[in-house]
Amino acid sequence: MRYKNLGKNGPEISTIGFGAWGISGRDWGNTDDEQSKRAIHTALDNGVNFIDTADTYGFGHSEELISQVLDERGRRDNVIIATKAGNNFYPFLGKDFGTTPGNPDYSKKYLTFAAEQSLKRLKVDALDLLQLHSPTLDLVDNDEPWEALEILKQQGKIKLAGLSVQSFKETEQAFLLDKYNSVLDVIQVRYNLLEREAEKELLPKAMKYNIGVIVRIPILFGLLAGKFNRNTTFGENDHRKMNLSPEKLDEYLTQLEMFKPFFESRKEFSMAQLSLRFCIAHPACHIAIPGGKTPLQVIENIGASDIDIPYEEFPSID
Ligand SMILES: NC(=O)c1ccc[n+]([C@@H]2O[C@H](COP(=O)([O-])OP(=O)(O)OC[C@H]3O[C@@H](n4cnc5c(N)ncnc54)[C@H](OP(=O)(O)O)[C@@H]3O)[C@@H](O)[C@H]2O)c1
Repeated sequence: MRYKNLGKNGPEISTIGFGAWGISGRDWGNTDDEQSKRAIHTALDNGVNFIDTADTYGFGHSEELISQVLDERGRRDNVIIATKAGNNFYPFLGKDFGTTPGNPDYSKKYLTFAAEQSLKRLKVDALDLLQLHSPTLDLVDNDEPWEALEILKQQGKIKLAGLSVQSFKETEQAFLLDKYNSVLDVIQVRYNLLEREAEKELLPKAMKYNIGVIVRIPILFGLLAGKFNRNTTFGENDHRKMNLSPEKLDEYLTQLEMFKPFFESRKEFSMAQLSLRFCIAHPACHIAIPGGKTPLQVIENIGASDIDIPYEEFPSID
């Protein structure tokens, strides 16, 4: 496992982390908590020291599972836990929904409340990183959420402040880095072999300000592991029913065809590993956080950290 410092103020983190949405028990079909915890243990046993979660994943369940794993390990590991806030799910607790709802709220009052709830679930004195959870631009192009993050830092409740940039709005939101880089330590961005909008403005600005970059959805919900085809379907309680609908699957799989010769030429690595390596090969990017549901997936994904293929050797898409 290789490690990098996460931007100007960041700790040293593994270049492959653990994305903890998939194990939340919601949005990804049914999951088995014991298997999910084994997946996290496997990650930590094999050099991963960074877990990404959000308060809203499973209405707090993802944070609780992580906390249980830390307890089981005697809280001896130096693990960085990144969480998120800004989607108020508390009014929906105890109600039945298909995929997780949340009312966007980036006010000082709500962000402070949400951070305090995450502190309790994770059983820590300070959150290593609190990220604004994919806000629309109108909600964060004003000082209030940034002041909230600054105050939470001053109070010692969070160590680093981040923005998880809304999917497909990477260029539109890039100017936020110019405006708020004094408080912003880290961004999280949707970026993978087939989705490279972030390269246009966002990643260059992150480099300019030495802002840490976390890459999410690095294997496109499993598609870049090569296991889906045009007949693949997903259950009602799996967000991929919408996000990898038959139309989107068809589009992505068509785009993926041009990578076949590349994957064929690097048969010593799996498609998931090569796809992950792409995400961390860009000089702006510090870590990819693949969601892993099983120890086997986790082990395979970790293998990407030590691959040496430079960014320039990956096929371009334009
Ligand atoms: N708005 C936001 O801030 C936001 C949004 C999305 C994600 N995230 C974060 O980013 C993390 C990663 O994104 P993601 O989990 O959505 O997508 P992803 O990492 O691209 O895909 C994860 C899914 O792919 C499958 N998979 C993982 N490793 C595999 C392997 N080696 N071989 C085959 N299949 C494999 C698993 O699902 P199956 O086994 O069920 O196929 C897993 O749940 C999330 O967990 C979350 O922490 C943040």
